[in-house]
Amino acid sequence: MTRESLTHEELRDIAIAAVEDACETAKNPPSDLGISCKTNRNDLVTAIDKKIEEDIAQVLAQQTGYALLGEERHSLSSFAGRVWVLDPIDGTMNYVETHRDFAISLALCEDGVPVVAVIADVMKGAIYSAIKGQGAFCGEEPLALVDAERTYQDAVIITDIKEINALPRLQQILLESRGHRRYGSAALEIVEVAASRAGAFVHLWVSPWDIAAATLICQEAGGTVTRLDGTPMDIRYKGSVLAAWPTVHRTVHNRLIVEPV
Ligand code: IPD
Ligand code: CA
Ligand code: CA
Repeated sequence: MTRESLTHEELRDIAIAAVEDACETAKNPPSDLGISCKTNRNDLVTAIDKKIEEDIAQVLAQQTGYALLGEERHSLSSFAGRVWVLDPIDGTMNYVETHRDFAISLALCEDGVPVVAVIADVMKGAIYSAIKGQGAFCGEEPLALVDAERTYQDAVIITDIKEINALPRLQQILLESRGHRRYGSAALEIVEVAASRAGAFVHLWVSPWDIAAATLICQEAGGTVTRLDGTPMDIRYKGSVLAAWPTVHRTVHNRLIVEPV
C-alpha cells in the first residue's frame, strides 16, 4: 500500500487512533502543566499542547508521510495535495482553568478542502468524525441531520462577548433567540451545531486548526458553514465563521449583514 493509495476510511481510522492516544495524554498530565503565554496573558499554551502535537505529528508522519499544519510548531509551505491540520488542544484556557470543554481537532485536507475530520471532546469521552460525502458520526452513531426549518428565534446561539461588542445587531438576535451560550472551544461549539444542540455559532477570528475538522463535521450533518458575510468557508485562511442550521444561517446572516438595522 502506497501512502497515496490510503483511503479516506483508513485515514479516518489512523486519525481516530492518534487522537484517542492524545486524549489519554491530555487526561493524565504531570502536576506542572508548563503553562506559558503567547500573544497575550489569556492566550495560553501548555507543555501538553506541545507534547500532543509532537506525538500526533510523529504518528502521522510515520503512517502517512503527509505534511502537517499544527497550531504550536508545524507550519506549511502549501496546502496542495493531502495535508493534516491539527489543533492539539482547542480550548487551552478551559484545559487550564475549568478542566472540561476542550478538544483535540484533526482534519485531513485535499487541496485545502477538509475530507476527513476527527474531534475529541476529551472529558466527555466522545469522538466525532466525518468523511466528505459520508455523513457525520459521534462514535458509531450517525449525527441526526440538523433541523433545516427552525429559525434563530427557536434556537440557542453560541457566540462570545467580543462578537457581541463588534456586531451590535447580534445582541438583538441573541435576545430574540432561545438563549446565548459560550463554551470556549470553537471546534466543540461548531460540533454543538452539528449535533443539533445549538442553532448557530458566530465567531470573528478563527484559525485553520480551529475549524478545519469542525467545518466538515457540521456540513456532513447538514449544517451550513460560511464566513459571516456569506462567502464560502475556505479553511486555509483565518477569518470569521457562521456555522448554523440552514434556516438559522439564512435568517442570522440576513439580520446581521443583509438587512438594514
Ligand atoms: C481558541 C478557542 C476559543 C476561541 C479562540 C481560539 P485555543 O483556541 O477555540 O474558543 O474563541 O479564538 O483561539 O487557543 O484554545 O486553541
Ligand atoms: Ca484553537
Ligand atoms: Ca490550541
